[in-house]
Formats: sequence, C-alpha cells, structure tokens
Amino acid sequence: MAKPIYVLSGPNLNLLGTREPEIYGRQTLEDIRVLCEVRAAALGHTIEFRQSNHEGVLIDWIQEARTEACGLVINPAGYGHTSVAILDALKMLAVPVIECHLSNPAAREAFRRETYVSLAATGLVSGFGGKSYELAVEAAAHLASVK
Ligand code: DQA
Repeated sequence: MAKPIYVLSGPNLNLLGTREPEIYGRQTLEDIRVLCEVRAAALGHTIEFRQSNHEGVLIDWIQEARTEACGLVINPAGYGHTSVAILDALKMLAVPVIECHLSNPAAREAFRRETYVSLAATGLVSGFGGKSYELAVEAAAHLASVK
C-alpha cells in the first residue's frame, strides 16, 4: 500500500466556515478534507488529514510523516510566522513539503509576509481559499510520483 500524503492544518483552522469568512471563505475544514480526498484519489493517492491547535502535536505529526508519508501539505496558520520548532521538524523530512494558505499572507499585514515554513517548503500555494489545499495536494502527488 502506497504511503498517504499528510495534510496538516494548524491553529484556528478547525473554525473555518465561521472564522473571518471574508478572508478565509465559508467552506469548513471538513468540506476541504472531502475535496482533498477526492482530488488525491483521482491522482491515485490517499491522504491523512489532521488539524491541531497545538504546536507540539503538529511537530509529532511532522516527525511521523518522515516514515509514514509520501509527501506533506501543511497550512501552519499563525505558527508559520512564529515557529522555529516547526521549521526544524520540517527540515528533517526527505519527502516534498508544500506550504498552503487559504489567504495570500504576502498581501496582508507585514507580520504575515514571512513564514518560517517557507524555508523548508518545496513550494507554496496561497490565496485560493479551499482550492489552495486541493492544488497543494496535487503538487505533492506530482512531486511524489516524479521522485
Ligand atoms: C493562514 C494565514 C495565516 O497568516 C493565519 O495566521 C492563519 C491562516 C491562511 O490559511 O491564510 O491562521 O495560514
């Protein structure tokens, strides 16, 4: 059985749908999970889709992905702008890492313009709402198959 693509979401993304919908849209994280699953299946992949509000939990999952995933999509949410520890964990991955954001942080407040995650990411998809996740899954599937 091929390894899944891990799709990890950070803090406050469990409240998608009601959280600042003018910025993040009205899709829930469950809606996005279904879209990612369908897209991955069409490409011959499976996903492991998880969300946590806790930095250490996200780090445990990133470490797990070292051996259990064929690629990693991560929306680190606010931790992208603050967490050296998440960057350090991502740097240990040999599989492709796709950073993903619903909004386009580069077009928002100055403190969102840089993310630590970008330093370890193979590529970045941002600004397309829930579609960013689907595109990121597609990118991870592509990179996993050309590897
Ligand atoms: C986000 C952008 C971050 O700046 C913010 O802290 C989030 C969501 C996005 O998906 O657009 O929580 O990662």
